[in-house]
Amino acid sequence: TDDRNADLRALIRTIPDFPKPGVQFRDITTLLLDSVGFAAAIARMAAGTQGPVDLVAGIEARGFIFAAALAAPLGAGVLLIRKDGKLPGTTIAEDYALEYGTDRIAMHADALVPGQRVLLVDDLIATGGTARAAVRLLRKAGAMVTQAQFLVDLPDLGGADALRADGLAVDSLVA
Ligand code: PRP
Ligand code: HPA
Repeated sequence: TDDRNADLRALIRTIPDFPKPGVQFRDITTLLLDSVGFAAAIARMAAGTQGPVDLVAGIEARGFIFAAALAAPLGAGVLLIRKDGKLPGTTIAEDYALEYGTDRIAMHADALVPGQRVLLVDDLIATGGTARAAVRLLRKAGAMVTQAQFLVDLPDLGGADALRADGLAVDSLVA
């Protein structure tokens, strides 16, 4: 994460007081609308990926966009990590803490073969609660999860460092 990605940073807008007062919401929809910027973001995330990957795991909803775009350049399939209750097959789930209460994400229990190498992808990491629950879920299924890629890191919230403490190499393009 440095100024090499100033072009991408300029495509992300900040919306004050969303979804509640005091939050500066980093909105990536403006980057998605920019054909050159979106393609550059995917190319740089792919270039930052180390070694072969069998599956790219994307986290609903915005993470799907980046995981799907990375699959072809990485020669990998896409594994969907969804909010609980959305997947039709037999699932395994993992809870994580929110500011108030908890949330639950799930994946199909048979989505991967134990030992497959999985790259975790999302648009943004904040507290890391979502990504860390995804890592627990993937590891429960037998995945080798050694790296995660995000378009945006909000470093003050500590999520990327927490993921590193969980044993992952963590990359982001814009902080
Ligand atoms: C956002 C973002 C990450 C997560 C980051 O998703 O896309 O998945 O929050 O926050 P954390 O690091 O504190 O867990 P959101 O729940 O807004 O879902 P969406 O993509 O469906 O809008
Ligand atoms: N932008 C997008 N998603 C988020 C943010 C943000 O600033 N904070 C937590 N999830």
